[in-house]
Amino acid sequence: MKIAILGFGSVGKGLARIINEKNLGIIITAVGDSKSGIIDNKGLDICKILDNKEKTGLCGDMKITPELILNSADYDVLVEVTPTNADTGQPALEYIKYALSKGKSVVTSNKGPIALEYSNLLKIAEENKCFLRFEAAVCGAIPIIHALEHGLAGNNIKRIYGVFNGTCNYILTRMSDEKLTYQQALLEARELGYAEADPTYDIKGIDAAIKLVILANTILGFHKTLDDVDITGIDNIPSDALQLAGEDEKTIRLIGEIDVENEKLRVSPRILLKNHTLVVQDTLNAVTAETDLAGNVTLIGKGAGSVETASSIISDLLFIRECNGRRY
Ligand SMILES: NC(=O)c1ccc[n+]([C@@H]2O[C@H](COP(=O)([O-])OP(=O)(O)OC[C@H]3O[C@@H](n4cnc5c(N)ncnc54)[C@H](OP(=O)(O)O)[C@@H]3O)[C@@H](O)[C@H]2O)c1
Repeated sequence: MKIAILGFGSVGKGLARIINEKNLGIIITAVGDSKSGIIDNKGLDICKILDNKEKTGLCGDMKITPELILNSADYDVLVEVTPTNADTGQPALEYIKYALSKGKSVVTSNKGPIALEYSNLLKIAEENKCFLRFEAAVCGAIPIIHALEHGLAGNNIKRIYGVFNGTCNYILTRMSDEKLTYQQALLEARELGYAEADPTYDIKGIDAAIKLVILANTILGFHKTLDDVDITGIDNIPSDALQLAGEDEKTIRLIGEIDVENEKLRVSPRILLKNHTLVVQDTLNAVTAETDLAGNVTLIGKGAGSVETASSIISDLLFIRECNGRRY
């Protein structure tokens, strides 16, 4: 299987490193970042490219653009791992549409295009007999899409709820366990690289809401947008709320919930017993699916990280190869 990777940051580099180390039968023929690119249809020298990126900030030649890669590289699947833009989905949306319209399958970790245009992208993929997979876009390493789509096939899903944002979970864990104020916990999360310089998307609950929209539209067949989600973030939780909850063996977590019957999506801080399944520590994510046959199924794992996110991308790549009867 030959792949082209657009985006060579944390996830793109992690993926390239794993593919280079493991014998998965995946060949990387092209890589592109914001300013450069490189193509070799026989397979790239990944160590050299990683080294180059480290030293110069470029993965290849400044004359090689993403458009050139999409048009002229030899690839079966495009791996799209450029930054998320939740308002426009760009530039990822155009890259994905272009590849699908040429009959190339796409694997992405990017929430923007899936939250904004899933049904349109799926239509293009179906018309061109190729696949669109996005396991890494929701909860990083946790195979939640695969579990809901395949593992729990035949079940009626009544509710999906859980911890969808590791940054908020870290902040709330530290406020509860170490009695830090919100500002102190946020500062610590920034210093450890868990929070962005501008953490608005995380702490206001928007990131978790986008993930709910993706699950609702892709797994449950809803047609929701971010505006349909009732969102409350964690930025207004007073420290004494956690202290008070703690006195009762309870704590607070930012919970995203899809109420399937009522088609309601909500993100809000909730008080939970400390021993509740969803009270996971630090940056972990946890998702419970409430079903008619299997009962409650909860998956817990790392919601972010270079290699962890690459794990989901690899599972999507291998799934596509399997579905294609291992033709490549
Ligand atoms: N990091 C995680 O743990 C994680 C987890 C789940 C999902 N995701 C999602 O995965 C995607 C990648 O995340 P990341 O952490 O790897 O981001 P990142 O470290 O910021 O890397 C983004 C990469 O995209 C490149 N890029 C920017 N604009 C581009 C353009 N117009 N055309 C081609 N390449 C472009 C950047 O180029 P330069 O190198 O030249 O700047 C960089 O190589 C995002 O959508 C993110 O939301 C990330």
